[in-house]
Amino acid sequence: MKSIVILISGRGSNMEAIVRARIPGVRIAAVIANRPGASGLVFAQANGIDTRVVDHTAYADRVSFDDALAECIDAHAPDLVVLAGFMRVLTDGFVRRYEGRLLNIHPSLLPAFPGLHTHRRAIEAGVKVHGATVHFVTAELDDGPIVVQAAVPVRADDDEATLAARVLAREHLIYPQAVRWFAEDRLVIDGKGRVSVRGGCSDEVSAWIVPALDAPTGEAS
Ligand code: GAR
Repeated sequence: MKSIVILISGRGSNMEAIVRARIPGVRIAAVIANRPGASGLVFAQANGIDTRVVDHTAYADRVSFDDALAECIDAHAPDLVVLAGFMRVLTDGFVRRYEGRLLNIHPSLLPAFPGLHTHRRAIEAGVKVHGATVHFVTAELDDGPIVVQAAVPVRADDDEATLAARVLAREHLIYPQAVRWFAEDRLVIDGKGRVSVRGGCSDEVSAWIVPALDAPTGEAS
């Protein structure tokens, strides 16, 4: 059994997707938010998951916040820490502490569009394909070994909201998949920072390229 802690800042829909996936061999030890009002905490509590708040505004600097956060995480002794819409830049010390067991999801096809406002920037750049990436976290912002990506088309009439919704539906597919592979001990990072899935996986699973595979909800994209 692998124990995981999920960190959120707000809505927590990716956390919810991971919880709902009921991944065999995975126990969600806690959901921790850096904002007391993070609405995702309500879902976690309603599902009997231990919830904690480490409010970043109560700490003088990043290091003291990250230390408090690490203490809260370590109390649950997780095998994996999952950043799910956790909107804080983490210190190098924090990232090193969880090296190889810290995953993040970012709403772009990294290395394109690290940082904020990815959907707006994708539309402004005129890219035709956009998406999301699950990756191991390194000290660089929105960087690190890529586990899985999902691509969606950018349509001519898209605005930030429509594109974000299309990407989010794919996020909810790829994050539970990445956690499942981790729980199965199948993720291997090579010397060049590339990830492979031990035992292989089908193309449909390793990359959801629209329109090759649609979300199970049948959402039209
Ligand atoms: C998601 O789109 C996630 O990819 C993004 O925030 C959203 C959180 O939604 N994360 C980042 O931008 C991190 N750089 P959620 O709270 O509903 O999961």
